[in-house]
Amino acid sequence: MTTWSIRPAERRDVGELLVIEEAQFPEPWTKGMLLDELTNTVTRRYTVAVEDTRVVGYLGVMFVMDELHVNTLGTLPGHEGRGVASSLMDEAWVDARRRGVTRATLEVAVSNTRAHRLYYRYGFRPVGVRKNYYERSHEDALVLWADLDPNDETPAAP
Ligand SMILES: CC(C)(COP(=O)(O)OP(=O)(O)OC[C@H]1O[C@@H](n2cnc3c(N)ncnc32)[C@H](O)[C@@H]1OP(=O)(O)O)[C@@H](O)C(=O)NCCC(=O)NCCS
Repeated sequence: MTTWSIRPAERRDVGELLVIEEAQFPEPWTKGMLLDELTNTVTRRYTVAVEDTRVVGYLGVMFVMDELHVNTLGTLPGHEGRGVASSLMDEAWVDARRRGVTRATLEVAVSNTRAHRLYYRYGFRPVGVRKNYYERSHEDALVLWADLDPNDETPAAP
């Protein structure tokens, strides 16, 4: 059962976003970077999953023409495997189709198989590799792309 709801991220959420960033990403964004993203509401769209007033996950996307770029996606440790990230993606995909987005892309570490599985469920497929994409680990990133069917009103994941 889904016990969280999804709403637009706000500046007051930045502390909780930082907790997820620092726990989940080897190269976490800083408070300043997150605030910049939240402020730029023209090309960015950040959403949070909130359960009992607590942020348990968030998703940040960027729009370029009719394309969507997944900038970041994270679930609070201890809350993984419950469908939090999937519900954030479902909501974003419904919004993206309404906006006329036709394609989506993202970079993900080659070793992040858990995220690969999630993204593959949304139709993403690898099209290339960015060598040494991550500054600290020097790990390569897979570049994934997905097509969105503008006529499909249902969430992407089966
Ligand atoms: C990758 C990440 C975002 C996934 O978040 P999540 O909230 O655990 O994702 P979901 O719960 O929606 O899906 C994960 C799994 O749980 C399963 N699941 C979904 N809903 C479920 C439910 N209601 N009950 C049980 N399992 C469920 C999914 O089928 C999926 O299984 P799979 O991995 O075998 O495909 C999370 O692990 C994370 O924050 N990782 C670190 C940051 C990161 O790598 N971000 C992505 C790269 S930018």
